[in-house]
Amino acid sequence: MAKSLKVGVIGVGSISEMHLKSYKNNPHAELYAVCDQNEARAKAVADKYGAAKVYGDYRALLADPQLDAVSICTWNSTHAEISIAALNAGKHVLTEKPLCLTVEEALAVQEAVRSSGRMLQVGFVRRYDPNAQLLRRFAEHGEFGDIYYAKASILRRLGNPGGWFADVRRSGGGPLIDIGVHVVDLCWYLMGKPKVVSVSGNTYNKLGNRSNVKGLSFYKASDYDASLNTVEDLANALIRFDNGASLYVDVSFTLHIEKDESSAKLFGTKGGFEVIPEMKIVTEKHDTILNVTPQTDHPGFDFNAAFQAEIDHFVDSVLNGTEPISPVEDGVEIMKILCGVYQSAREGREVRFDGEAERA
Ligand SMILES: NC(=O)c1ccc[n+]([C@@H]2O[C@H](COP(=O)([O-])OP(=O)(O)OC[C@H]3O[C@@H](n4cnc5c(N)ncnc54)[C@H](O)[C@@H]3O)[C@@H](O)[C@H]2O)c1
Repeated sequence: MAKSLKVGVIGVGSISEMHLKSYKNNPHAELYAVCDQNEARAKAVADKYGAAKVYGDYRALLADPQLDAVSICTWNSTHAEISIAALNAGKHVLTEKPLCLTVEEALAVQEAVRSSGRMLQVGFVRRYDPNAQLLRRFAEHGEFGDIYYAKASILRRLGNPGGWFADVRRSGGGPLIDIGVHVVDLCWYLMGKPKVVSVSGNTYNKLGNRSNVKGLSFYKASDYDASLNTVEDLANALIRFDNGASLYVDVSFTLHIEKDESSAKLFGTKGGFEVIPEMKIVTEKHDTILNVTPQTDHPGFDFNAAFQAEIDHFVDSVLNGTEPISPVEDGVEIMKILCGVYQSAREGREVRFDGEAERA
């Protein structure tokens, strides 16, 4: 790889830092431009990371012929619009999760990828965790047999990030679309991406954002504002696949729970495994149950390593013209699941995708 990729980062709030520093660490990328509608923020970030160009309007950034690719780290409601504009301007795109807000938007982004001939990678960062890749290799080699059940949770006792995250028009929802997306995607990916046939879900708005609680800190939007909250505080869902496998997930921004909990466990006919919070494998040999712990430097999730791997993969995929491991099609499938859960919760029934009669 001789060429250096000139990249721009659009939206330089909280999570952009992971993109910015990972591009700086990549020898084949040049962090060329940054953009934020908050121009003072964009300028400060450009100074900190040594980006040559600063923009307040993403359209001006996309018109820059020098630019090859962008990371999109803006509100969820802008991902589709900016992705389509970037692809049509001939830029490759890494967009933060979720891909967008609706299935219709997701299909429009997919069409823009096809018509532009450019690449789009969805920022499903959990896939890029080296432990997830290790366990995926084991799964692909049949170590776990048929994976028929998965169960994942990200339960925050206090963690509504406020601002746009809490405004359903800009976020698309609460913990399901914000953090549930990570574990739904991770489990689906590790299960071998079976076709979803139905979802059944519930959402609850019982506790509000609990901005009254004192003494505990949590992740916040750059422009934190607790005055608006139109998103759920708890969601759960049962997702069925065409191979008979199922995935159960529950996620919260706030819940009366003793402490935060995160887990992702998958169960197959020959073995089971945990990927969150730490890697574990459970199997049976010679009439004996074995609990096996793979030995790596980071048995738990290493946010920095996963982000660096995601950015390195994006740069490699663009420079080599190869398909990313989280292509736009996967973003579309995950939007079907997430939007299906919200629809199911609204309508109080299972939502089916296989054309069969819907169950009341
Ligand atoms: N992968 C992860 O683990 C992870 C973690 C947190 C957030 N995210 C995702 O990253 C995105 C950003 O989240 P955040 O926490 O950084 O939010 P944030 O509010 O801290 O930052 C968003 C930034 O985008 C800017 N922005 C919004 N619309 C814009 C537009 N049209 N043009 C230019 N700038 C615009 C805002 O001014 C702000 O600076 C979201 O999609 C979120 O879901 C991913």
